[in-house]
Amino acid sequence: MSESPLPHAFSASGPLRGSVRVPGDKSISHRALMLASLAIGESRIEGLLEGEDVLATAAALRAMGADIARGEDGVWRLHGVGVGGLLQPETALAMGNSGTSTRLLMGLLASHAITATFTGDASLSRRPMGRVIEPLSLMGADFTASPGGTLPLTMRGLCPAVPISYRLPVASAQVKSAILLAGLNAPGVTRLIEPVPTRDHSERMLAGFGAKLEIGEEDGARTIAIHGEAELKPQALAIPGDPSSAAFPLVAALLVPGSEVTVENVGVNPTRAGLFAVLREMGANLVFANEREIGGEPVADITARHSALIGIEVPPDIAPSMIDEFPILFVAAALAQGRTVTRGLEELRVKESDRLATMAEGLRAIGARVEERADGLVIDGTGSEVLPGGATVATHLDHRVAMSFAVAGLASRAIVTIDDTIPVATSFPGFEAMLGGLSA
Ligand code: S3P
Repeated sequence: MSESPLPHAFSASGPLRGSVRVPGDKSISHRALMLASLAIGESRIEGLLEGEDVLATAAALRAMGADIARGEDGVWRLHGVGVGGLLQPETALAMGNSGTSTRLLMGLLASHAITATFTGDASLSRRPMGRVIEPLSLMGADFTASPGGTLPLTMRGLCPAVPISYRLPVASAQVKSAILLAGLNAPGVTRLIEPVPTRDHSERMLAGFGAKLEIGEEDGARTIAIHGEAELKPQALAIPGDPSSAAFPLVAALLVPGSEVTVENVGVNPTRAGLFAVLREMGANLVFANEREIGGEPVADITARHSALIGIEVPPDIAPSMIDEFPILFVAAALAQGRTVTRGLEELRVKESDRLATMAEGLRAIGARVEERADGLVIDGTGSEVLPGGATVATHLDHRVAMSFAVAGLASRAIVTIDDTIPVATSFPGFEAMLGGLSA
């Protein structure tokens, strides 16, 4: 991602119609590569997201001994090294823009006798790693980080690591997953207490690969125990479409009059589906069909039809189940009737960009009425009128901000220019072609 920026203009071009698929789920793709790299024997992964973030994970795992190849049929075949069997990488692990690669791999390596250096792009190098450094240090890993606990960072893992019992101080699936992955190769039981539930893909997939996991409850908090020095069995996995990517064409259809769009094969795991509940509450016509289960994850085909949305107060406790969808929700709110209030979103300030500041600034630039508060945005919508548009929006290396303003451009009077669309390839290769196809 060191290329020069690639601006792109988005403008209204009539109703969106058609049926599409979106690339595989990013969270699940990272986890599939990691667990398959630890299982002895051949695992097959269908529908893997081939975005830069996931490719960074694949490259790192290859550098540590996993055999990972993409067949011409698009199926990825992996031969893992066994739990605890990763090798010392010869060079620094380049994580690009990917917080998930970084934090999960730090966990995975914490219980290996490996020294590894992690580097990232300008966005990733600003993001806090202290949240994983703290618990992984308790397990015995040692860290030399850049000021403020950021990348570049070098860690020395410990084998055997010390199993811990840890209460998550922040609602983060990345932190939870880092500790579970470290626990895989620690002797005994590593235990987590999760007061606010977050996406549970790691738990589902670890169980699917044969790890021994106990999920329980303690004083209203979720508990997860993993038995270490596990043995993982190779799997054949199919990865559902990413609901965080499906959100863009679906919200576009809600906002552009005359539209009807179906996204097939979307993951609808309840720990990820908060956006759909909030949009329905705002009056969205969203229909789930063909609900089924694929590879231990619930999946559906989702149809969105143009809807007159109304502003609501978004309950803060739904935030973890739609944490990556606030940028596109803010766009929807900017076209709703009345006021939308969001709270409890401090975590958005440490994503690929400060998403409260970036979204407030961009929405104002295209004529929306937005108040930025410390923990959320308050947006007074147009009541289904198009936004004025006619501005260039700064996306600060944030793929989801870029895609959100692309959708805003489809619902604006004048052109909306995104200053840089290169980051879109981290999670949604083919995004512009998909949008173009829907308005053709
Ligand atoms: C992710 C967890 C979330 C999310 C990120 C992917 C994961 O991050 O924002 O895009 O795959 O576990 P946090 O753990 O920081 O909430």
